[in-house]
Amino acid sequence: MKLNLDLNTFLADHWQSRPAVFRQAIADFQDPIQPDELAGLALEDTVSSRIIVREGQGWRSEPGAREDYSSLGDRDWQLLVQAVNHHCPEGQQLSDLFRFLPDWRFDDLMVSFAVPGGGVGPHIDQYDVFILQGVGERRWQVGDRGVHQARTDCPGMALVEDFEPIIDVVMQPGDLLYIPPGYPHCGQTLSPSLSYSLGYRAPSQQELLSALADHLLDSNLGQQRFTSVSEVSSPSQVSLSHQQGMIALLAPLLNDPIQWRDTLGRLLSQNRFELDPWPPNPALSHQDIEDALVNGDTLQRLGGLKVLQIEGAPLTDLYLDGECYTLPSTLSDTATLLASERQLESEQWQPLWQHAPELLLTWLNLGYWQLQP
Ligand code: SIN
Ligand code: CO
Repeated sequence: MKLNLDLNTFLADHWQSRPAVFRQAIADFQDPIQPDELAGLALEDTVSSRIIVREGQGWRSEPGAREDYSSLGDRDWQLLVQAVNHHCPEGQQLSDLFRFLPDWRFDDLMVSFAVPGGGVGPHIDQYDVFILQGVGERRWQVGDRGVHQARTDCPGMALVEDFEPIIDVVMQPGDLLYIPPGYPHCGQTLSPSLSYSLGYRAPSQQELLSALADHLLDSNLGQQRFTSVSEVSSPSQVSLSHQQGMIALLAPLLNDPIQWRDTLGRLLSQNRFELDPWPPNPALSHQDIEDALVNGDTLQRLGGLKVLQIEGAPLTDLYLDGECYTLPSTLSDTATLLASERQLESEQWQPLWQHAPELLLTWLNLGYWQLQP
């Protein structure tokens, strides 16, 4: 599969700013997953899913895990399953077509199956999203950014009132809709459909400060306390100069690249949805890996796992799943391959085995990578 999208034009004219429809962005699109497989995934404990049912003029949400769909009928519902790329290699391959955007931004691939009339209702996301139409047809309406009234008649659904569309299209298999944060949108299903939503997020101030606090606690840093040379006369007042002095204590922490790199590496390499590692049982031994090397096995990365390098820090510091792992300084090329490639050939991972065998063994036994013949 290939993505037919003029990346320069997309990044200059649309990314984070303007919604657009790209017809036949994937020509001859073949769904990588079938509705029954999606329903099977929704039954797993580690998978986050929901069903949205349309009732009259409203929508309600119920858990996605169910054995039997017959009571839902053949109209007005939609099953949504998050992070399908964590559980299904074909889902990861589809997501990888969008790696012209940085890995740290990618949230997950949500796959939905909807019957005619199904949809989640008009809403606004804080995320950039690409919606790729699989089998079936759905009509999509997108409104402009601006003030949109929240709807209060569907508790827990975070919907907005109907909006004036600036885009109103019927999407066919292989068509792609891009919606930046803040634009209201609503999908309505015309015939049984699969659709693929690729979500992208960026950290908020809350998340950044909380990650910095975690980093300081973990590394026992940030112990400096406020001191003052003068006190105010009124005992009940916190003076302006004391307020400023306290907040100024944070500045050196925010301005120290050593601290922020580690904070960002840990924060941005984490996933909002659970990973699905399959640690080998029994655990692999040194001999198993020697054998895999002789066999020419490839090293395959777990779906959804982000492996990040932080510019300015050594290339051999790899951040994955919220942790920093330091490779020997001779392995910077290998570290870059591990970060950039989903799969390494045996001659590409051999230096890792030679120079950092315990680290490779740890990663394999955590299920972050797998050896495959
Ligand atoms: C949907 O497929 O209807 C939901 C996707 C979205 O609105 O982001
Ligand atoms: Co949305």
